[in-house]
Amino acid sequence: MHREPVRHIGPEALAEQGRFAGLVRGHADRPRTYHIVTYGCQMNAHDSETLAGTLSDIGLTQAPQREEADLVLFNTCCIRDNAERKALGNITWLKEIKKRRPHMLIGVCGCMMQQRGMAETVLKQYPFVDIAFGTGSLYRLPEYLYLAVEEKRRVIDVSREESTIAEGLPVLRESPFKAYINIMYGCNNYCAYCIVPYVRGRERSRRAEDILHEAEALVADGVQEITLLGQNVNSYGNDAGEISFPELLRRLDQTGIPRLRFMTSHPKDLSDELVAEYARSRSLAPHLHLPVQSGSDRILAAMNRRYDVETYLSRVDKLRAARPDIGLTTDLIVAFPGETEEDFEQSMRLVERVRYDSAFTFIYSPRTGTKAADLPGQVAPEVASQRIERLIALQEGITKEVLHGLRGQQMGILVEGTSARRQTQMTGKCGRNISVNFTGGHEGLIGHIVPVNITGAGSNTLRGEYIKEEQTT
Ligand code: SAH
Ligand code: SF4
Ligand code: F3S
Repeated sequence: MHREPVRHIGPEALAEQGRFAGLVRGHADRPRTYHIVTYGCQMNAHDSETLAGTLSDIGLTQAPQREEADLVLFNTCCIRDNAERKALGNITWLKEIKKRRPHMLIGVCGCMMQQRGMAETVLKQYPFVDIAFGTGSLYRLPEYLYLAVEEKRRVIDVSREESTIAEGLPVLRESPFKAYINIMYGCNNYCAYCIVPYVRGRERSRRAEDILHEAEALVADGVQEITLLGQNVNSYGNDAGEISFPELLRRLDQTGIPRLRFMTSHPKDLSDELVAEYARSRSLAPHLHLPVQSGSDRILAAMNRRYDVETYLSRVDKLRAARPDIGLTTDLIVAFPGETEEDFEQSMRLVERVRYDSAFTFIYSPRTGTKAADLPGQVAPEVASQRIERLIALQEGITKEVLHGLRGQQMGILVEGTSARRQTQMTGKCGRNISVNFTGGHEGLIGHIVPVNITGAGSNTLRGEYIKEEQTT
């Protein structure tokens, strides 16, 4: 396979964008407020933080409602058909609003725009959309705004800048104490059902020094929890001759970050070295999202996942031996082409055996251009719905039992705010990433990791009591 060398976007390109930002800032017709609507995974959530950072640097402020904003950006996802339909429905809805507010600018970006011909189609079918751009050129937003405002042009830029990495872009974090860091972009795995490798391009890793500097700055800023992002973090560094992923975790541990997470890791290359980090690391949270997709070897092979059930389970056992309090979560697809009742039963058995804290379950959705879209044996929608309902019911029961089993434990909770249901209670997340509502706390705890006794469990949250300092000493 031909591989282009990764091109780091240099200071010149960013300085040029700075020039456009200045021109927009001084423009009489500039948009003054923005609203970003985000679909899809954490990658997109983090891209939206970068878009927000860029817009805030140009002097725009965030509008709480999209219909009041001068600029609305839709950061789209195309992982399943319903993700696309939701985005298109919401874009259409804005058409009427724009009739009343003609100065409104509407932009569409994200993974959907990376599909061949999609940006052109959107601009054609949605004449009120002003800007369409892909995931590889977020850093060019000031230029797009300039073209839209000054030259009153419709802008389309989905040039596949697959091999670029832009460093040093501003980020406006959603949370003051939680942060994402991208460690790699793209995916090389080509699971038969998945569109991501086509829209996010080949794997490219960021330089370890860039990641470490970003982490150090976040720690200095008081951030308590960092989530490392990549479609397959286990293959971090493979492309660029960088340090390995476990080594990256060790170095991040030394930055003093209180809590570290990552997603997603592919079971096929979950190494013993990574498992060992779960036993050793000070910062690594006791949680791993390990998407299994199916419990049938036949389906796993057809999905091109490159592991079998036995290998997966042996890795789960190793993880639990290294870190007995680890909570596992997963993704499962039902009704992949050719999935028989027996294959599906095997997924049910796997879920019973692993006992995940929770699972994201999806009905297979054919994606144009992927290998599975052309496979025979597409499963009837009624059968698919029945299967997913059975799977969800099974997992709900397990979640409840797992949560009840955590009563009596003392956990560190990163406090996020007051509980939406009961204002007298505080809420936050434990290391296993489960929501915990607890009594005895106060707003001064927000943004800190505090000790809580787990006293009860609901269907997907835990209840607890804050352990005051004097009680712990
Ligand atoms: N890189 C991650 C997952 C990214 S997509 C990984 O490998 O685990 C998130 C989840 O969406 C996948 O784990 C899969 O369960 C689901 N998914 C992806 N493509 C899908 C499709 N065509 N139909 C249904 N679910 C899909
Ligand atoms: Fe998609 Fe597979 Fe890559 Fe995950 S590893 S993004 S499921 S191709
Ligand atoms: Fe969707 Fe793109 Fe993420 S397709 S799941 S937003 S990488």
